[in-house]
Amino acid sequence: MIIAGNFKTHHTRSSTLKFCRELDRYLSSKKDKEVTIFPTLSSLPYNDFAHLKIGAQNAYGAKNGAYSGEVGADQLLELGIKTLLIGHSERRGIFKESNQLVRKKFEFYSNEGFEIFFCIGEDLPTYQSGKTKEFLFSQLDRIDLEYPKLIIAYEPIWAIGSGESAGLEQIEEIHSFLREIGVKTSVYGGSVKPSNAQDIMNLKSVDGVLVGGASLELESFCSIIG
Ligand code: PGA
Repeated sequence: MIIAGNFKTHHTRSSTLKFCRELDRYLSSKKDKEVTIFPTLSSLPYNDFAHLKIGAQNAYGAKNGAYSGEVGADQLLELGIKTLLIGHSERRGIFKESNQLVRKKFEFYSNEGFEIFFCIGEDLPTYQSGKTKEFLFSQLDRIDLEYPKLIIAYEPIWAIGSGESAGLEQIEEIHSFLREIGVKTSVYGGSVKPSNAQDIMNLKSVDGVLVGGASLELESFCSIIG
């Protein structure tokens, strides 16, 4: 089971390190869980924990260069980091990342052999008008779904940070649709918390969860891990 925590712009360098060390200790007895933490970029520790991976929440599609405010592959690889989250709805919404830019990042980092959590998800009007599947399909346009280290994260925008996850039926329906179009591995994100995580992870077509708010406290994240 894949369980990932997206810290967004929470935690500092020291609290991130403390969290990861304690989590690593907790995970020493949890062999079947594949846990990744995505800290803020300025808090990225070396990816040298025994039982968890460190990933980056964002990166520019270049090794290095004149891209002020961004990090590239060189900076991540120096830390031993080969896992990347791209296309999060906050990047797409607040920072205006287009499908084209997200695709370029995917192309660059898949060429570099990174594991990629690729986020997709519809907004409320799209959901309400019953156009979710077409919309998700368009977000995956020209993405190589055969890439073996690709994990699609389905995160309906209306469920992120709202306290209300999508319903189990909706989650299963979308993940089984993703299987039909050729996605091999997919996780769900959007208000995952200790009280709903197990039910979501028990769904047939779901390979795990991507957790925002409920990953920030160690106790809550560990109870999601189980
Ligand atoms: P949330 O965030 O768990 O706080 O809803 C999920 C995400 O944005 O990845």
